[in-house]
Amino acid sequence: MEITFPPTFLWGTATAAHQVEGGNVYNDTWAMEHATGSAFVESSGDACDHYHRYREDIALLADLGFTLYRFSLEWSRIEPEEGEFSLAQLDHYRRMLATCHEHGIIPMVTFHHFTSPCWLAASGGWEAQDTPEKFARFCERAMAHLGDLIPLACTLNEVNGGPLIKAIAGEIMGSMRKAPWFEAAARSVGSDASRFVPMMFADSERGRETTLAAHRRAVEAIKAGRGKCEVGLTLAMQDIQAGPGGEEMAAQMRRELLDVYLEGTRGDDFIGVQTYSRQRFGPAGPLGPEEGVERTQMDYEFWPEALEAAIRYASAMTGMPVIVTENGIATDDDTRRIAYIERALRGVAACLRDGIDVRGYTYWSALDNFEWLLGYRPTFGLIAVNRHTQERTVKPSARRLGSIARAHGF
Ligand code: GCO
Repeated sequence: MEITFPPTFLWGTATAAHQVEGGNVYNDTWAMEHATGSAFVESSGDACDHYHRYREDIALLADLGFTLYRFSLEWSRIEPEEGEFSLAQLDHYRRMLATCHEHGIIPMVTFHHFTSPCWLAASGGWEAQDTPEKFARFCERAMAHLGDLIPLACTLNEVNGGPLIKAIAGEIMGSMRKAPWFEAAARSVGSDASRFVPMMFADSERGRETTLAAHRRAVEAIKAGRGKCEVGLTLAMQDIQAGPGGEEMAAQMRRELLDVYLEGTRGDDFIGVQTYSRQRFGPAGPLGPEEGVERTQMDYEFWPEALEAAIRYASAMTGMPVIVTENGIATDDDTRRIAYIERALRGVAACLRDGIDVRGYTYWSALDNFEWLLGYRPTFGLIAVNRHTQERTVKPSARRLGSIARAHGF
């Protein structure tokens, strides 16, 4: 074997509740999907019906060789109205956690993966001062019910996602907030466009203050809960590179998009690195994909080496253990997925050889699923899902990554 990993290294796949469960009708994203003229290309609908099929899905992942499964709790199911907690829904997630343990899979729970209950988003959402407290209260209740089964937790997912999109694509989120469909979505939950603030749509500065405060409060709540749980934040970490003359701009982007968030993780147990590609900046701003470089279905450059750079950056900045909580590619050519994974893993192995404490690698995603505004078109999954029958088909990449996991290398 040329590339080897420690026997304790965790091999995971990830999903997020709204992208796979189906029927998540109480959150802000469902409201946006269903507004007249919505920018979402389709409804999440039944998604992968993972809400009912999690047992088979988790068993399949274990069977393939995976040892970690990252999934999220859907806050809007657990607290559908403010202060009203559903024990039945908490029991559902308890069963999911137990299923992971039964199959020898370590569950990693994300407490917030982009979607928020309508009542929260409607009253200022991720720009409101009392949101951190409301999120901490949710974490506390969830931990009281589930904590003994949660060894690894991520508080919030990619809180720097909105600012990253702004840096790369300009004011697209900001202008969506002014669109009639957004106002319609806000009205459908009894709000208006000025007060309806889903996480990805928050103003960069106020959003950063709110999410980082929510992270700190959540860490305390989760740490105070039942069991012994390691907690971290996950960040969108592109490899930010300088094109010709772009050194200063790239440095500024690293400060604004990465450093200020990495500083907010001080005292955590690990940092969750989520990397898909690189992003080049010139003196005036983003340069976009380079001519001649292969593109993915997301129009990202095929650039698996970005992961190694992101791990090194996160580790150097924080000194904390790193867990790769997302890395993957949207493609309909599974041979390119295998090539991408192997090249990314070579980078992870190089970090380990240099003594960097990388604890695991999580592929996004276990299943082809709902990719937000783009609906079901991009296919990130190791496992295909038939949208009509819900039938699962294991792709060769799933077997490849699973066998690497089993052999601790390739
Ligand atoms: C994100 C999220 C996932 C995405 C994935 C692919 O990074 O936006 O964590 O929900 O589906 O990254 O784009």
